[in-house]
Amino acid sequence: MKKASIIGVGKVGISLCAALLNSKFSVFISDKDKNLINKYKKKEFPFYEPGIKRIISQNFKKLIFCDDSKDLIKKTDTTFIVVPTNSNIYGGFSNKHILQVFDSIKEELIKKKKFHTFALVSTVVPGSSLLQIIPYIEKITKKRINKSFGFCYNPSFIAQGEILKGITNPVFSIIGYSSKRSLKAIKDINKSIIINNSKILGMSLTEAEITKLASNTYETMRLSFINMIAQISNEIGDTNVDNITNALTFRFKKKFFKAAAPYGGPCWPRDNIALSSLINQINLKDSIPNAIGTFNNHHSEYLKSLLKNLLKKKKLKLGILGLAYKVGTPLITNSFSINLIKSILPHAKNIIGYDPLVSKDIEKIIKSKKFKHTNNIKAIKMCDVIIIVQPFTNINYKIFSKKIIVDLWRVVKNKDIIKSTKYINFGNSKNKEISKQLSNKVKKIII
Ligand SMILES: NC(=O)c1ccc[n+]([C@@H]2O[C@H](COP(=O)([O-])OP(=O)(O)OC[C@H]3O[C@@H](n4cnc5c(N)ncnc54)[C@H](O)[C@@H]3O)[C@@H](O)[C@H]2O)c1
Repeated sequence: MKKASIIGVGKVGISLCAALLNSKFSVFISDKDKNLINKYKKKEFPFYEPGIKRIISQNFKKLIFCDDSKDLIKKTDTTFIVVPTNSNIYGGFSNKHILQVFDSIKEELIKKKKFHTFALVSTVVPGSSLLQIIPYIEKITKKRINKSFGFCYNPSFIAQGEILKGITNPVFSIIGYSSKRSLKAIKDINKSIIINNSKILGMSLTEAEITKLASNTYETMRLSFINMIAQISNEIGDTNVDNITNALTFRFKKKFFKAAAPYGGPCWPRDNIALSSLINQINLKDSIPNAIGTFNNHHSEYLKSLLKNLLKKKKLKLGILGLAYKVGTPLITNSFSINLIKSILPHAKNIIGYDPLVSKDIEKIIKSKKFKHTNNIKAIKMCDVIIIVQPFTNINYKIFSKKIIVDLWRVVKNKDIIKSTKYINFGNSKNKEISKQLSNKVKKIII
């Protein structure tokens, strides 16, 4: 039976565990959070990730809980490390938890005669493996890299709510490696869990660390770019941003190219900041990651003022569709909806937020009697204005046909609603008066 171990089984680690179990591996896991491990032992999964519970329950006999991380060094020869790398005051990430993992397995690693390969999955600041992590392991164990142990950087390109899918059906995978031997060990495991035959690219450790951050910055750059085009379309008249996007996709493909709400979440904003900090630290001019983050904040302000203008006449009841930072996840980290609700609450009679995955605890975060959460879409029918912040495709928008609808994603397809003057679709400014006001300004730069 194939074996592998994982240290740190939070959202990403437990998804990797499910992928390994599904590929006939015995998986040895440990986590310093004993409550979490006890939950898993009872087949309770505190994270919302489709498929995980089913796969782990079906393969429960192959899942081995280790009391501490030491134990799994004895029992396996390959360990994935998936611990948090929290953002620090410098905009980078702390590797504190990664180093603590090596402190906790140090003795077992010193005793071990066989070669052991580590694969780090956590997102790190480029340079981390060579500058800090590998020298640290060598120092505390007195063992040499590639003689006694191998080290790979094997990040996941995943999104919340589809972590398992991202691990088993990636667009591509990368492995930064210290030696060919380590690359082979980790590549063989990647090959076993990947079901879509996508490419696995080997590269240097630092190249892989840069690729991970670069991928997120590039995605947010595309999103911010098309949101900028949407703002222009929204203001200038005779435009529908989706027609522009559609034309551009023939040249640049579709992914991360839908103009809509600002991006958020636990990864994109912080990964951008980390790349920006690295650029500054190595004395280069940080313009791009910084500009992306700045534009994303501008985009929030732009949409908030658009809505405040709409509400300025009288206090209305607002329904916000989508509270998480994106559809398909309960996570509200850096969610535009939270930012929006806090900012427009003073201008509204009250606000009801709909999101089927987000918990009621969000009411404690908003902390206002004027805000209520619901997971029943019909409760939103009592609102005067419906703001579609996330693109729910399973909602029958007809139930809102008499209301003012602000559609940030242009997700409503009902022809009668779209034709109505009460339907405001962001990025589409056909027949809008505002474009007349701007026309003189535009004329100034076309003489
Ligand atoms: N969540 C995502 O979508 C995502 C996407 C890409 C990359 N990442 C990266 O993956 C890493 C993990 O993210 P996550 O969302 O799974 O985090 P998480 O907080 O959900 O899980 C991390 C787990 O590691 C455990 N842990 C911490 N220190 C430990 C130690 N010394 N020994 C054993 N266990 C320890 C924690 O108790 C926790 O259960 C981070 O670096 C993150 O940036 C996350």
